[in-house]
Amino acid sequence: MRISLILAHPDEESFNHALAGSVCDALEAEGHEVTLHDLHGEGFDPRMTREEVRTHRSQDAPVEAHVAEIVSADGLVFVHPVWFDAPPAILKGWVERVLREGDAFERGVDGGFVGRLRAEAALLVTTQNAPRSEGVDAVDHFWSEFVLPAMGVREVERVALTPVVASDETQRRAWLDEVAAAARRRFPAVT
Ligand SMILES: Cc1cc2nc3c(=O)[nH]c(=O)nc-3n(C[C@H](O)[C@H](O)[C@H](O)COP(=O)(O)O)c2cc1C
Repeated sequence: MRISLILAHPDEESFNHALAGSVCDALEAEGHEVTLHDLHGEGFDPRMTREEVRTHRSQDAPVEAHVAEIVSADGLVFVHPVWFDAPPAILKGWVERVLREGDAFERGVDGGFVGRLRAEAALLVTTQNAPRSEGVDAVDHFWSEFVLPAMGVREVERVALTPVVASDETQRRAWLDEVAAAARRRFPAVT
């Protein structure tokens, strides 16, 4: 499978980067072809342009490249910290610019979304410090109840790690193993 992994964290020594590396290694060991996008490292510009709002086409070559990759990926992984109960702004901008009408979805006759992504499954790995709220939280709502189903991704699994600030080396190692196992489960080797 071709799997796109989108990472949103500005510090390449962060735990988020380590988590993305663990997921990437696990998926590659399963035989998948993984493309890891470190949005900050790539200098991804999250600002939607006037032209994009009007035409759903971008003059920004990296945006077009992301769109082309994402619409045909077999699986998606997102790794990000929870910032103010939401994905970091760079990732919100990536969603706005890349998961665009005409490519990632179409408008149905009733104005609703008709998903066009090829990927049927996505894995979310998030970190935070506060305890998780009971039931569906804002990040679940954003990804699992709105964005990904709207794009046609039916199976969304989230591994929500907390509290990262209080975690020691042993805990972090266990979390790295946990996300690797979740990745293998979500995207098993194709035989
Ligand atoms: C701008 C900002 C906003 C944050 N907002 C939240 C929040 O809403 N809830 C929460 O539990 N943690 C919040 N945090 C804590 C981060 O989620 C936490 O530091 C991060 O997940 C730890 O992962 P890292 O070590 O890879 O940075 C915030 C941190 C920053 C920098």
